[in-house]
Amino acid sequence: MKRKTIQDIKNLKKSKLPFATLTAYDFNSAQIIDSADIPLILVGDSASMTMYGYDTTIPISMEEMLLVVRAVSRAAKQALVVADMPFLSYQTSIEDTIKNAGTLIKNGGAGAVKLEGGLQVKKHIQTLVDYGIPVLGHVGLTPQSYHQLSGYKIQGKTPEEAQKIISDARAVENAGAFGVVLECIPEILAKEITQQLTIPTIGIGSGNNCDGQIQVFHDIIGLSREKAPKHAQTYDNIYSKIQNIVTQYKSDVENSS
Ligand code: KIV
Repeated sequence: MKRKTIQDIKNLKKSKLPFATLTAYDFNSAQIIDSADIPLILVGDSASMTMYGYDTTIPISMEEMLLVVRAVSRAAKQALVVADMPFLSYQTSIEDTIKNAGTLIKNGGAGAVKLEGGLQVKKHIQTLVDYGIPVLGHVGLTPQSYHQLSGYKIQGKTPEEAQKIISDARAVENAGAFGVVLECIPEILAKEITQQLTIPTIGIGSGNNCDGQIQVFHDIIGLSREKAPKHAQTYDNIYSKIQNIVTQYKSDVENSS
């Protein structure tokens, strides 16, 4: 089976059909997602919450990211695996950006990295692309800036904020990114950016007019005890199903003699 390349992902924009992508953080779920022919799997730094139980994406380390990236890369046979760069693995310097992105590709087995920001990370993206490391951008709500943004809120509601997000998305494209995640921005703004850019936009909480969509795997299957965010598309409550199985198993053992 031929693995998807960044060119395959770029071509999805031309097809005009919306495409679905998902996050994954472990071998089994990555196998399930990969076998559903999802073209891109993001090993998101949302692993900080889903895998390690932190409150935000801020605490996850490179070492913790690397473990989940490796597991997903081993499972994915057809999808492009994109590894998120954790907080402070690229903001600190261009040297750190190259070293840490290189580690996610070389030791993690990912085919690309994702980092948050627009104009302020233009140089970082340009350098990675120059050194042969494909980059997926991420603008709008950037969860690593949780404190600066005063929490998780829709971004780009005023004309000034909207203009800044358009400039950020254009900067990401001009720097050479092969796509950009648009997180939690108004639908009309996401549509405008999608029309302006030549690279695919992948939306989350930004309406249906992006080229593709991304969701957190745990949210769509209802695997977490905590309520999923408002923008999540939740199809089931696997948490309670697993809980019932565990309770059933416990009772079977206790009643077996
Ligand atoms: O970390 C993550 O899961 C993400 C997606 C929400 C885009 O960045």
